[in-house]
Amino acid sequence: MKGVAFAGKKGGTGKTALSHALALGAAWQGAPAYFMHTDDREPLHVNGRPYAYYDARNPKTLETLSSTALNNDGLFIIDSGGNRPEFDRWITKAMDLVIIPFMPDPEVVKTNLDHMKRLEEEGACNVRALINAYPSNRIEREYVKQFLADIPEEKIIGYVAKTEAVRTLRMDDDPTFKTPVTRVNNLSRKLYFTVKDAVEMVATKEGASQEAA
Ligand SMILES: Nc1ncnc2c1ncn2[C@@H]1O[C@H](COP(=O)(O)OP(=O)(O)O)[C@@H](O)[C@H]1O
Ligand SMILES: [Mg+2]
Repeated sequence: MKGVAFAGKKGGTGKTALSHALALGAAWQGAPAYFMHTDDREPLHVNGRPYAYYDARNPKTLETLSSTALNNDGLFIIDSGGNRPEFDRWITKAMDLVIIPFMPDPEVVKTNLDHMKRLEEEGACNVRALINAYPSNRIEREYVKQFLADIPEEKIIGYVAKTEAVRTLRMDDDPTFKTPVTRVNNLSRKLYFTVKDAVEMVATKEGASQEAA
């Protein structure tokens, strides 16, 4: 099992939405997915989703779940609250990849780049950026590019299209989960492949630097 955490101090960048989307994308590809809710907020009441959803706000629960899950196939996904340095240190060690979602917004970019830098100064080598809510319109894209220009190219693992319907993934299922609309399914599947590739890249890089050492 591979471990992936969505992190970043800034709220509202899509950590929760993308954690669900990734779990869904994995499930649609037949890979088991385990969603870890670690935010202070109350967990959702989820019904009938094709992936497992755990209340892992207690660090002990999270650690137990992660050590158990490592022996299984699939993806272990942490939706991180983002403002706990000790937790950050744990996820950078325990997870294969830490993803910081960036919304095209100057303040988000600045805060998240600072966070990324801090994690790397503390020894993390598996932190990557994912551009979220990327406009599909060409003119709008040109406009947001100026906000994203400070993010080092080699750190960006991919782009997630701006898709309002992803909000449905962050809502309680009342009474049960309905199949998401096609754009959400497509986004989820694409995100799964983006993350899968990034996990493999990081592993290859780590392997290579270990050999060189
Ligand atoms: N790709 C996207 N396109 C459009 N809206 C998005 C996208 N990703 C997230 N959002 C919206 O942005 C808001 C914040 O997302 P959320 O996942 O709650 O962020 P976080 O967990 O980082 O606080 C929500 O309203 C969510 O629906
Ligand atoms: Mg959240």
